[in-house]
Amino acid sequence: MTKKLENKVAFVTGAAMGNGLGAATVLARHGAIVNLVDVNPLVSDSAEKLRGEGLLAESHIGDVTDIESIRAVAKKIVEKYGKIDILVNNAGVANIIPFLELSDEIRDRMFDINIKGVWNCSKAILPYMIENHYGKIVNMSSVTGTTVVDPGETAYGTTKAAIWGFTKALAIEVAKQNITVNAICPGYILTPMVQGSARETDPANPQRVIDGIAAGIPMERLGTTEELGDLVAFLSSDESRYITGTQIVIDGGSTLPESGSMGHH
Ligand SMILES: NC(=O)c1ccc[n+]([C@@H]2O[C@H](COP(=O)([O-])OP(=O)(O)OC[C@H]3O[C@@H](n4cnc5c(N)ncnc54)[C@H](O)[C@@H]3O)[C@@H](O)[C@H]2O)c1
Repeated sequence: MTKKLENKVAFVTGAAMGNGLGAATVLARHGAIVNLVDVNPLVSDSAEKLRGEGLLAESHIGDVTDIESIRAVAKKIVEKYGKIDILVNNAGVANIIPFLELSDEIRDRMFDINIKGVWNCSKAILPYMIENHYGKIVNMSSVTGTTVVDPGETAYGTTKAAIWGFTKALAIEVAKQNITVNAICPGYILTPMVQGSARETDPANPQRVIDGIAAGIPMERLGTTEELGDLVAFLSSDESRYITGTQIVIDGGSTLPESGSMGHH
């Protein structure tokens, strides 16, 4: 049986760990040739691990805030494979800091990575998709800023809501070129980002924080990066060919409760 992403070339940002690595793993299991792009040199170990599973994976150092570094990586991939079919704009950072204490530097870093990063990678890679009359762009938004928020998320929430606007605006421009652009809004997925903020909240017992989050989710657990990856694979495949400009929530029901105190990321 042919796999649903066989011969597809994917470009996944922030793929050294967490959601990006989960997405890259599932895309590769569906047969895609996956290019893992990250500023963190650990990305080469992550690609190596996937190759150890017999999957097609390569790593590249690239900074989404630096369009030239992304253009260079994209060019290298296209020279080798002739195209890029799938772009997963996943790289992102979160700092939870009250508005009046949040420095402009930290705000700008979040805006640069989370918003301009999506912008830069789309700008660098879209021309290849147009040339090929085929493309799937998947942008990592969040339930944070689009549906729910906790205190300290003015900058992060702003960036994740911006991705909705960008997703729709780009989707309409490229629809007739057979390119779909969609956004994913995860609730809590267990990644190094979430583990890091649990450690910040309770250095002595971060697991208590994770358990507390799980207790507030109707499905009583955080999501896994591979569950997130399954949704990325759907939006990256022809199964979703008539879906564009939309956003899909994946949160184990965490945004459902009408009452009760719950936190989100
Ligand atoms: N984990 C969650 O619960 C959750 C929920 C909603 C949305 N998200 C979103 O999912 C995405 C991934 O989050 P995660 O939890 O896996 O985070 P993570 O911190 O575990 O991993 C993020 C990766 O992005 C990379 N990265 C950071 N800056 C980069 C840059 N300038 N260029 C290239 N790569 C860069 C990091 O090196 C890291 O490997 C983010 O956009 C985040 O906002 C996560």
